[in-house]
Amino acid sequence: MGRVLVLYYSWSNGNTECVPQELADACGADVERIETVDPYPKDYDGTVNQAKREVEAGFEPELEPLAHDSADYDVIAVGTPTWWYSMAPAVRTLLHARDWRDKVVVPFSTCDGWEGTALDDMSGLAEGARVAESLAVTFGSDGGSRMATDPRKVTDWAGRVATLAKERN
Ligand SMILES: Cc1cc2nc3c(=O)[nH]c(=O)nc-3n(C[C@H](O)[C@H](O)[C@H](O)COP(=O)(O)O)c2cc1C
Repeated sequence: MGRVLVLYYSWSNGNTECVPQELADACGADVERIETVDPYPKDYDGTVNQAKREVEAGFEPELEPLAHDSADYDVIAVGTPTWWYSMAPAVRTLLHARDWRDKVVVPFSTCDGWEGTALDDMSGLAEGARVAESLAVTFGSDGGSRMATDPRKVTDWAGRVATLAKERN
């Protein structure tokens, strides 16, 4: 089986963190959370306002170094919370800075119901990759951590990613 790495960003409730576990269970994926060097404000409104400016400007914040090298993997799942109808800026940095040739990139996102173009925007940045099995997961519209998407949909998706990884060898 080809090796699977999950790189994801999460800020609010850990919603985006729920998805990697499914991939770890389905295909033994290695999982790493990405972090910005400069943290966002602790309060929600401060982060929402800063994020609006950053998303509109296509800002790419500096990231803390990663423990895993995506070059060592065949399939890389990249996860983001939807921020202002697109990906979180940290994920923009991640996707822009790497060589995705010969890789399969699996984008996934979580949102409160207004997904926007996050998945398409991520696909566009993973230059050279084969993009497959994009997944949007919706949580309750109250901004909380209750998954509105049927969890079986996420489990089925993880199974398809595992099959995809098997095909890589
Ligand atoms: C800065 C910011 C912007 C957001 N923008 C959107 C949005 O455009 N559409 C949406 O449905 N949810 C939006 N949300 C809600 C998050 O996408 C949603 O709660 C997500 O599941 C949070 O994931 P996390 O807990 O992993 O950070 C936003 C949240 C934050 C903090």
